[in-house]
Amino acid sequence: MNRLIKKADTLIEALPYIRSFAGKSVVIKYGGNAMVKPELKEGFAEDVVLLKYVGLKPIIVHGGGPQINFMLDKLCIEARFLHGVRVTDEATMEIVEMVLGGKINKEIVSFLNQHGAKAVGLTGKDGQLLTTKPFNPKSLVHKYSGSKEILQPEDYGLVGEVSHVDTKLLDTLEDANFIPVIAPIGVDSKGKTYNINADLVAGSVAAAVQAEKLLVLSDVKGIRDAKNRHVSTLSRKDMERMVKKQVIREGMLPKVHACLTALQGGVQKAHIIDGRIPHAILLEIFTDKGIGTEIVA
Ligand SMILES: Nc1ncnc2c1ncn2[C@@H]1O[C@H](COP(=O)(O)OP(=O)(O)OP(=O)(O)O)[C@@H](O)[C@H]1O
Ligand SMILES: [Mg+2]
Repeated sequence: MNRLIKKADTLIEALPYIRSFAGKSVVIKYGGNAMVKPELKEGFAEDVVLLKYVGLKPIIVHGGGPQINFMLDKLCIEARFLHGVRVTDEATMEIVEMVLGGKINKEIVSFLNQHGAKAVGLTGKDGQLLTTKPFNPKSLVHKYSGSKEILQPEDYGLVGEVSHVDTKLLDTLEDANFIPVIAPIGVDSKGKTYNINADLVAGSVAAAVQAEKLLVLSDVKGIRDAKNRHVSTLSRKDMERMVKKQVIREGMLPKVHACLTALQGGVQKAHIIDGRIPHAILLEIFTDKGIGTEIVA
């Protein structure tokens, strides 16, 4: 009996959150370990489907670094990163599009469908969702870090950044109860294809749909400070300081940048959470404690 009462308590704890989030969008960046381990994949799908059924509107943006590296390795193409962003030449772009837009995107869609949702896979090309321009390292790498190393857009090749999000297709899908699953590939006005860091896409999409929350799932507990301690709340000032000291670097750089983009664009809350924790999404959204690192503007 006690066990049953505990179950009821758990549901009741979620009630105020369910009430205040009903009808609101939540953008979830899905990446890292949570995308690889079968039991975590299962938990992710259950969480997203549950969000949908209790009235939230989840939008998924996914990465796929390990899977892209695996395929590049098979084809003997070298994977190269500059400050957490993949340098993308034409051969790499072809693989990125095949792996992200094909294999991974459809796998996530299929997994959500198996768990009772109706998910639809998109890239930034569909419905002109993501208009893209060449990635400018000044907007990310140099902006906070004051790094002396001067990088140019050409150093990154076919890496893009979002210049516009057209939400029409997302609205249409949501109205018809579909869950959009977005692969971070964009196209410019001339039809050239770009690889975009998934965190940055998630931040821009969250701002464009005025999401209630942006959740960035990763394979770390959250942000660590210089002494390797977990940081539960990170302000813009702290962040700038930590980037300058290179405490926040590489793959974490686009994440904090994406969270700030979202917050400045009107998103209420942005969190970087540990995708290795089973049901990390539910814990973050429906419990009093919250997990990971919250970024505040
Ligand atoms: N201050 C920091 N605190 C925590 N992690 C950090 C920090 N600075 C850099 N990192 C690195 O950022 C990494 C997370 O980014 P990464 O791009 O590797 O994964 P992801 O974005 O979750 O996956 P994907 O790119 O495949 O979508 C961590 O594994 C860690 O090594
Ligand atoms: Mg990454």
